[in-house]
Amino acid sequence: MDEPEELKRSLLAEVDGANTLDDLEQVRVSALGKKGRLTQQMKQLGQLDPEERKRVGQALNEVKDAVQQAIETRKASLAEAEMQARLERERVDVTLPARPFDMGRIHPISRTIEEMIQIFGAMGFRVAEGPHVEDDFHNFTALNIPPEHPARQEHDTFYVEGTGDDGHRKVLRTHTSPVQIRAMRQLEEPPIRVIAPGRTFRSDDDATHSPMFHQIEGLVVDRTTHMGHLKGTLIEFCRAFFGVDDLPVQFRPSYFPFTEPSAEVDIGCSKQGNELKIGKGGDWLEILGCGMIHPKVLENCGIDSSQYQGYAFGMGVERAAMLKYGIPDLRTFYESDLRWLRHYGFLPIETPSPVKGL
Ligand code: PHE
Repeated sequence: MDEPEELKRSLLAEVDGANTLDDLEQVRVSALGKKGRLTQQMKQLGQLDPEERKRVGQALNEVKDAVQQAIETRKASLAEAEMQARLERERVDVTLPARPFDMGRIHPISRTIEEMIQIFGAMGFRVAEGPHVEDDFHNFTALNIPPEHPARQEHDTFYVEGTGDDGHRKVLRTHTSPVQIRAMRQLEEPPIRVIAPGRTFRSDDDATHSPMFHQIEGLVVDRTTHMGHLKGTLIEFCRAFFGVDDLPVQFRPSYFPFTEPSAEVDIGCSKQGNELKIGKGGDWLEILGCGMIHPKVLENCGIDSSQYQGYAFGMGVERAAMLKYGIPDLRTFYESDLRWLRHYGFLPIETPSPVKGL
């Protein structure tokens, strides 16, 4: 049997040598556990004579107390050291610069279309859409555009290889007016009141023309819809869009194959040198084309022109955006320059609304 003093020294050395809480637990089990060295010694006490048993028993109890005490102390200091190490490891450097938080911007074209939809939406128009790759019938023929019309020439229009379902050649739509035809042919009976914003394509590329640009189309068909409704709607639109309550608006006679009579709409402005101000000022700027739908167009869409009539209008989105937001160069819309977008773009949280403002 080991001398208690010797056992004590050996066990305390083991406690001291434990460098983690796990090691310490192992030391505890090997000393004080069921099969631990101290426990074994205590089990052997019965073999001693009473005098010895008393002396050795007392000594072993003291060893046990001392080892338990040492384990508690060691445990506290190891736990403290582990906590310190963790705090060190998980330290947050509050002086690091924050991660950049970049919010995307809404492109002025998207924003302008949203504003237009808001205004016409409040007047009861719904949004209609049509394909970018159209066929000759919807883009030209149904709109009463004759075969010899200059717009149908190869150098003005992008033709696409192949033909549509009905054997007509395919084109990239040159205006949003084919959506009128689709809206009228899809609906069995008027009334119809739709707007159709979207991309359009023409074989043009210079400082003021882009081969891809945007238009918004409007179409109203009903029994008694007349020129007065057309004028009222567009005057109201121009004033709401430009935010000028008394904006002068004039209707100038014009020509489109698909409307009769036709007009172009100008808004009042003042031009002084390079400065342009929308509002009163004696000068005029053309912003859209419109007219009463030609009876032939209604008939091409299966609508009885002795019962129904209506109006249509079409307007360039880029031009409207340039005027409203003072964007001087058309080409910058498509350059995807982030600096430009940060300057002219809109925060996504500021959605346009006729109530809160456009
Ligand atoms: N589609 C015509 C254009 O692109 C605009 C327009 C639409 C004119 C509807 C009258 C009626 O120029």
